[in-house]
Amino acid sequence: MPVEPPHRGHEIVVVANRLPVDATVDPDGTLTWDRSPGGLVTALAPLTSQGEGAWVGWSGTADLELEPFEQDGTWLVPVTLSAQDVERYYEGFSNDTLWPLYHDVIVQPTFHRSWWDAYRRVNQRFADAAAQAAAPGAVVWVHDYQLQLVPAMLRTLRPDLRIGFFLHIPFPAVELFAQMPWRRQVIEGLLGADLIGFQRTGGASNFLRAARRFAGVTTRGPIVLDVQSDGAVRESRVGTFPISIDSAQFDALARTPCVQERARQVRAELGNPDVVLLGVDRLDYTKGIRHRLQAYGELLEDGRLSQDRTTLVQVATPSRENVGAYAQLRDEVELVVGRLNGDFGTVGHTPVQYLHQSFDAAEMAALYLAADVMLVTALRDGMNLVAKEYVAARSDEGGVLVLSEFTGAADELTSALLVNPHDIDGLKDAITTAIRMDTRHQRKRMRKLRRRVLQHDVQAWSTQFLEALAGTADA
Ligand code: G6P
Repeated sequence: MPVEPPHRGHEIVVVANRLPVDATVDPDGTLTWDRSPGGLVTALAPLTSQGEGAWVGWSGTADLELEPFEQDGTWLVPVTLSAQDVERYYEGFSNDTLWPLYHDVIVQPTFHRSWWDAYRRVNQRFADAAAQAAAPGAVVWVHDYQLQLVPAMLRTLRPDLRIGFFLHIPFPAVELFAQMPWRRQVIEGLLGADLIGFQRTGGASNFLRAARRFAGVTTRGPIVLDVQSDGAVRESRVGTFPISIDSAQFDALARTPCVQERARQVRAELGNPDVVLLGVDRLDYTKGIRHRLQAYGELLEDGRLSQDRTTLVQVATPSRENVGAYAQLRDEVELVVGRLNGDFGTVGHTPVQYLHQSFDAAEMAALYLAADVMLVTALRDGMNLVAKEYVAARSDEGGVLVLSEFTGAADELTSALLVNPHDIDGLKDAITTAIRMDTRHQRKRMRKLRRRVLQHDVQAWSTQFLEALAGTADA
């Protein structure tokens, strides 16, 4: 049933699983807020802090009931998740059903009816909160796989709203999506939006095919035509909007003297090796960390890389540790790291510097500057903003990006050394090529990469999406 718009609502409302800040409650009960993990927040934080938008999301802590509050110019509307919601909606349906299914079934998705029920219930809670926050006729922008039912739920509550949805992760091939027991409901949920955005054209066309097959709708180019029970035809537009970063800000950060100095210090702390390779990922099975370690280990073993003059710095940010596949991945990665260091290390040199931690942007920028080669070897990735951050940090036009063709970033960053991470020999060759590349060629490639990343920043991304959303009004 439709509800009344609030008296003083917001003209733009972002709805995402996480708030841009993450709460931790100390044992003495004090609440501290840190920046939330992941690419989504990195991309959207600049958008709402510039306007007077509202952001509906979860605080990251179970059973925390908080009133809405203002922070850095954004009105934050916390949605409470109980411990059971966290288990079933967040760890369960979002990250043990949808995440593996949408990332090409790299690990087997788990289907539980109780998880689906929780997903529906929690999506309704987010839709209710958004309906209460949005001004009459406002724009509501819903994000990512955790909230795919929100667009249709919100349209029922508030038919006056302009609703956009953006999927930050891949939308899989229809043959894989077909496994989902609730595939029709998911598609109908998304079709509540006026505009449904994807990272890559492949995701958009996978979705159009799935919508025709499982929701019985017809499509005309990028438009989905959905006949309602009263005979009216509702239209949703589908589009491709590759996400980006705040490139100028990252570029400026990496140019600051303290970051430059820190980069020199990092190399010195590593013992000034000849070659520094870098990997930066959430500790997730989609990121291809094991493939990267395999290739690196073989290169050390073959003697194509010097055992005592090469260092791989692997930042693996802790993530979703209560989900079985993540705990298992951590064990596997740490076993391999331990083996490599045991087999190839010396008293004074550790071939893999493994950091199971997260760092602030300045430390990340210093690591990017310190690295000769950046390794992004994801097996499937919606975009991969780390690749873009590396490029934005390299105003010296040095460094080489080795980039998996299975990332969204590969569509844009074609001057990187593109690799198929499943092809270990190809990956080894690409790493060797990167290390041997002369400065002139490095610069030529990096210049092209930088042109793209600096021009197409997160501001351009959100402007393009929001303009396209506004355009759906005239359709
Ligand atoms: C990816 C997803 C985001 C998610 C982030 C961190 O970037 O697209 O929706 O927030 O990972 O994952 P987490 O489960 O910690 O929110």
